[in-house]
Amino acid sequence: MSDFVTIILAAGKGTRMKSKLPKVLHKAGGKTMVQSVLDAAKAAGARRNIVITGFGGEQVREALAGQAEFVEQKEQLGTGHAVLQTKDLMQGEKGTVMVLCGDTPLLTGGLLKKLYEEHVQAGAKATVLTAIMPDATGYGRIIRGADGSVDRIVEHKDATEEERKVCEVNSGIYCFDIEALFEMLPKVTNDNAQGEYYLPDVLGMLKKQGEKIWAVAADDYEDTLGINSRLQLSRAEKILRRRKNEALMAEGVSILDPDTTYIDADVQIGRDTVIYPMTFIEGKTVIGENCEIGPNVRLQNVTIGDGVKGQYLYAHDAVVDNDANLGQFVHLRPNAHIGEQVKIDNFIEVKNSNIGKGSKLPHLSYIGDCDMGEGVNMGCGSITVNYDGKKKYRTKIGNHAFIGCNSNLVAPVTLADNAFVAAGSTVTKDVPADALAIARERQTNIEGWVDKRKKEGKL
Ligand code: UD1
Ligand code: MG
Repeated sequence: MSDFVTIILAAGKGTRMKSKLPKVLHKAGGKTMVQSVLDAAKAAGARRNIVITGFGGEQVREALAGQAEFVEQKEQLGTGHAVLQTKDLMQGEKGTVMVLCGDTPLLTGGLLKKLYEEHVQAGAKATVLTAIMPDATGYGRIIRGADGSVDRIVEHKDATEEERKVCEVNSGIYCFDIEALFEMLPKVTNDNAQGEYYLPDVLGMLKKQGEKIWAVAADDYEDTLGINSRLQLSRAEKILRRRKNEALMAEGVSILDPDTTYIDADVQIGRDTVIYPMTFIEGKTVIGENCEIGPNVRLQNVTIGDGVKGQYLYAHDAVVDNDANLGQFVHLRPNAHIGEQVKIDNFIEVKNSNIGKGSKLPHLSYIGDCDMGEGVNMGCGSITVNYDGKKKYRTKIGNHAFIGCNSNLVAPVTLADNAFVAAGSTVTKDVPADALAIARERQTNIEGWVDKRKKEGKL
């Protein structure tokens, strides 16, 4: 059983990002970096999570509201100083604290669990998670003694030429014995190249006191990558996308071209669904089994049943039931609920509407604030007129109604079951069941008109 508290450092500005947004709120794999860190901590079994905020603190607190406790670090004087700010909140806590950085979005719950378990098993006062980096530039280096155990950590900027050759780095993630950590932290000085209070100094200080310091090496350095620039962020993004696609394929989802398929971390997709290229599946989207999604689809927080087909489609905050067939060039806006076996095609927009089972919207319609029954046929170019410039009104269409081409249904209006609307009508009054509504000028033919105009030389 895991039993530890975490402190997540997220106060830094992230100068190298050149952004107004705090670094930890930049997204990779569809999630803010700090959210990914918190999710990994929770997956590893953390029982309490404390986030240190500073630059853009209000935004960070808002993004993580209800998921963690927060402490403000008014001035960013270094990672050691940051952890010290939790002193009051940590009063009375015993056992293990795991310190994490908010800028490591590739962490996994499994790796953190391994760090915690090895720390406990080793009976160490401090354990650092290390990684062998192909390019260690910028990272703190792990300096080991003759017996192979960790002596201290030296920051890149403070390191000698010789020390910089070490490619085992500090991931910035540690487990500490809580009492040992808070006893040592006030003694950390800022006598170094950056004039900062370094958290990693605690390890060297504990070692000097004869305490046991341990190190756990990550099997894959990618898991521990710290993001300091936009270039590094784009690399993390690529890795997260790859991981998600591979996990889905392992579960029985076909992805034709993983290089052009972007699926966020929390998305769920059922077996035997095929994802075609140039497709973005985002947020809390859930897709059932045996669907064909793409090419050129963007889904955000959409719930899709089984057997649905969708191509050249943008849908957000919408629900699509089994066996619906959507696209091409369809826009589903918030609260669009598309029923079973519905067919929507060729330049159609649906917003805040329920479309009943088996209804067909084949071409060029706008459906807003509408409750449509089953088996309705919306002719080409027919629309709901839901807005009078001030308020929105609903349109109700009964089962098996037939709406002729180029009709305007001016809301509020109700068309009962089997209502039939003549093409080109502008319907402003309710239509009873089984009635035909014609609401347009009658046609007049003027015989011989063309001949006459020609003779007059006007045509
Ligand atoms: C830090 C480590 C380095 C390690 C690297 C791993 C120190 C001194 N160095 O360096 O050994 O290899 O992480 O990525 O710890 N932060 C605060 N308050 C502060 C300063 C920083 O909350 O006063 C937060 C930042 O928001 C960030 C994290 O601490 O989330 C790490 O800070 P950063 O400036 O990125 O440290 P690195 O230079 O990467
Ligand atoms: Mg960093």
